[in-house]
Amino acid sequence: MKIINSIIHMQALAIAPEREGRQISFVPTMGYLHEGHASLLREGRKRGDLLVLSIFVNPIQFGKNEDLDRYPRDLERDFKLAESCGVDVVFIPTATEMYPQGFQTGISVRDISLPLCGASRPGHFDGVSTVVTKLFNIVRPDVALFGAKDYQQLAVIRRMTHDLNLPIEIVGMPIIRESDGLAMSSRNAYLTPPERQSALSLSRALKRARELFLAGECSASVLSSEVRTLIEQDPLVIIDYVEVLDGEMLQKVKYVDSVSLLALAIKIGQTRLIDNTIFGEEF
Ligand code: PAF
Repeated sequence: MKIINSIIHMQALAIAPEREGRQISFVPTMGYLHEGHASLLREGRKRGDLLVLSIFVNPIQFGKNEDLDRYPRDLERDFKLAESCGVDVVFIPTATEMYPQGFQTGISVRDISLPLCGASRPGHFDGVSTVVTKLFNIVRPDVALFGAKDYQQLAVIRRMTHDLNLPIEIVGMPIIRESDGLAMSSRNAYLTPPERQSALSLSRALKRARELFLAGECSASVLSSEVRTLIEQDPLVIIDYVEVLDGEMLQKVKYVDSVSLLALAIKIGQTRLIDNTIFGEEF
């Protein structure tokens, strides 16, 4: 497994497979890898001849009072997991090379970036779209894999890739959960034991919404109020949003009649968590 820090070396390494018609699969991450990332890497391994993982805690997708400085990092552990998933190249650029003095270009995917996390974290998806475009230009993948826990991120990247005619297949992969239902996230590391216990209310509430939907309930307001009520029973959890939207453009819907997303974001103490469930389609 090669570790590459410089952009020019990564670009040079990507040229050979491109010329030889070998496929590059790519999993961009911010590190502190878990089983969710491992599932992307294993799928990436199957889909490409060269599997590239990037680890970069992207400063421009964090707001002023967010957790950029304390975002968990453990490169040694990441390397072990990467190796066990058959990664060929780990690309770890520096922030100064990614955003040198004078950097002033950004990618903004308009409407789809505005609701949900875009409303609570203004500018977040511009930061994500910009770094992902840069990473795509550096790694030059044929296929890139993203987790469905960050469903809005996946939708924004799909839209951007389509709108900008990037010749890259975007693959969305299902949420990976702990055995008790908690969606895997690097930010789970922040939770104290009582907070982690409270965080289980999210997957429990989403499970209940799925049960209601499977029993024939299609009203978005009934499904989202059920989720709210269940989560609000836990005093440690503060709801940011619970919304039902269409799965592609992320517009609010009144009824679940095609592929729809029930997405939620909450805060427990200092930790912001997101989770979701899809109605009408399985990943
Ligand atoms: O999902 C993440 O880890 C990040 O948002 C991404 C896609 C690597 C961009 O920084």
